[in-house]
Amino acid sequence: MADEQELAEIQQRHWQDTYTAHPGMYGERPSVPAAWAADVFRAAGARDVLELGAGHGRDALHFAREGFTVRATDFSTVGLEQLRASARAQDVDGRVGTAVHDVRDPLPLADASVDGVFAHMLLCMALSTEEIHAAVREVRRVLRPGGVFVYTVRHTGDAHYGAGTAHGDDIYEHGGFAVHFFDRALVDDLAAGWALDDVHAFEEGDLPRRLWRVTQSVPR
Ligand SMILES: C[S@@+](CC[C@H](N)C(=O)[O-])C[C@H]1O[C@@H](n2cnc3c(N)ncnc32)[C@H](O)[C@@H]1O
Repeated sequence: MADEQELAEIQQRHWQDTYTAHPGMYGERPSVPAAWAADVFRAAGARDVLELGAGHGRDALHFAREGFTVRATDFSTVGLEQLRASARAQDVDGRVGTAVHDVRDPLPLADASVDGVFAHMLLCMALSTEEIHAAVREVRRVLRPGGVFVYTVRHTGDAHYGAGTAHGDDIYEHGGFAVHFFDRALVDDLAAGWALDDVHAFEEGDLPRRLWRVTQSVPR
């Protein structure tokens, strides 16, 4: 079994290869949670949005079309190249910046510098519980008071939970993709010190993937 660092490197190569083989694999339409997040961000008066694990940008481009300024990050250069090409084609490249960033590293942003953070199916990647906590601490650091974090994760009610290769810490690898399946206690732990505004169960795709959409905000 691969150790934590080996697993991370294997996963990064796997995502690079997947986006190369299947450009724009999630389609052009925004995800359902991104539409929710845009409404929540707007209601909170947000202008600057950070997206983590943006992939080829179906959601980052939605935020830009909705008038937000977006910083889109991912550890896949291939996904981000596709995102930039789509931004140019849609004439929103003036509102979208990209940065290659591994969510296990500190965010290259100042404290209290963004209004909203979005991460669809990123925190449930091949990250240890400690790495997830560290990533959420970074999100908290860069959000302004009143800022909102909307994230989604596959949870332990998903059909693939417990299937495939077990890597420990509720991480299972299936079809080459390693997923950390969240239980409710982890969601609650990550919201300590935040206002936990909403936890909503939903499904996506044909499997279907079973996910939670979590909305939490920084108290003013
Ligand atoms: C399930 S995909 C979702 C992509 C995008 N959020 C969407 O829904 O269209 C997960 C994304 O997270 C990225 N990713 C996985 N592990 C990462 C890490 N440690 N740091 C940054 N990005 C990562 C992958 O490259 C991929 O683009």
